[in-house]
Amino acid sequence: MSPNPFGIRGYLIDAPAYGSLRSHPDGAIVIADGKIAEVGAYDDLRKRQRPAPIRWFDRGTAAIFPGLIDCHTHLPQYSAVARGESQLLPWLRENIFPVEREFTGPRARQEAPLFFQEVARNGTTTAMVYAAIYEDSCEVGFEAAEKSGLRVILGKMMMDLGSYGQLQPKKILSVSLIESERLCRKWHGAAEGRLEYAFSPRFAVTCSEKLMRSAAEMAQRFGAYLQTHLAENAEEIEKVHHLHMAARDYTDVYEKCGLLTPKTMLGHCIHLHAREIDAIAAAQANVAHCPTSNLFLGSGLFKLDRLLNAGIAIGLGSDVAAGPELNMWQVMRSALAVQKARAMIEPHLPRMRPSEAFYLATSGGARALGKSASIGSLDVGKEADLLVVDLPALLPYGKIGARLDDLSTEDILALCIYRGGPHATLETYVRGNCVYRAPGCPDPE
Ligand code: GUN
Ligand code: FE
Repeated sequence: MSPNPFGIRGYLIDAPAYGSLRSHPDGAIVIADGKIAEVGAYDDLRKRQRPAPIRWFDRGTAAIFPGLIDCHTHLPQYSAVARGESQLLPWLRENIFPVEREFTGPRARQEAPLFFQEVARNGTTTAMVYAAIYEDSCEVGFEAAEKSGLRVILGKMMMDLGSYGQLQPKKILSVSLIESERLCRKWHGAAEGRLEYAFSPRFAVTCSEKLMRSAAEMAQRFGAYLQTHLAENAEEIEKVHHLHMAARDYTDVYEKCGLLTPKTMLGHCIHLHAREIDAIAAAQANVAHCPTSNLFLGSGLFKLDRLLNAGIAIGLGSDVAAGPELNMWQVMRSALAVQKARAMIEPHLPRMRPSEAFYLATSGGARALGKSASIGSLDVGKEADLLVVDLPALLPYGKIGARLDDLSTEDILALCIYRGGPHATLETYVRGNCVYRAPGCPDPE
């Protein structure tokens, strides 16, 4: 537990809106009862009169950001990163289903705590996550998430067509529904709302209509989230077309099953027609853009401008194991690379700036999760989900010749995006509790 209340001094940076950046070069945050109580210049806050003196953590050359938000990742897949050079469907068959199939019993119990430690070490404070198809994989996932102190939305993977596992085909659907409901009743809203449930039909290729409709109905009944994959890959879309000949398009399949809601997170959404984009926007459903994954699997280039113009809330996802790291700085870097690649073919596209990638990984993700009121930026009253980054660790010569004073806020953000990662994380906080502190980072107590 962190002392209460306490202050942290550093270079504050946040992005409250797409295209806008705020900073306090020598700033500070005061945290009380897990919330941001004061924000401003360090000199002002230090001199302020308070009922009792507070403890200060002087992180002088560090940057303080809102915690990073990962809107789409897979707990059981982390051990299989960087495997295979095929596209989505053969990659799932050859590399992923075999690993998910093993994610139960002692293996799941061993890996789940390690996974969430890695999430925290990467500076991510909120993650929306898929477990494997087994009830215990999700149960141990929630237990580990609870212990980690992170904010986690998790769900048991649902699939009843071409699934892995030992169940007789006739039983797969009913077991999937019963276990998902049981997990939701136990965990949705647990740890004072820090843990939430997401009904998680994998995608239309591996889910019957009955399963998708039931998932949508249960999510509505419990006020829980929904997560699935949409329009990631050409072969996938072709398969869905053949399975659902009567549907107008892929999005229509989900629409008809009730899966498009304001609590829905749609992973990928690369190959969408204008009608589908409009339908997602009209339903106020949300999108997780997963650029590291889309590059690894050669899935396609996300049309960021079109989805933004439609008003869709967009967050970023590491999509491990198709994305190779849980590092959201790497995901931001790849989001920029994807828009640069598009601009080579379409020169009139608006440029994407580092501050905009950073917005998507913080405030954008918060909006996509319906959590703008509580996380995503450094505003007084929000929960103190923070990331403290060691800036000299990102400079080419480290502390030697460090000239941080010469850098603008945009420069510092670009340094974090293009060179950032777990090696530079000093501390990660969720609700004012330190969930990760780097070895050697002085503990003030
Ligand atoms: N589509 C359906 N399942 C998956 C998955 O596990 N990863 C990715 N990237 N796409 C999917
Ligand atoms: Fe995924």
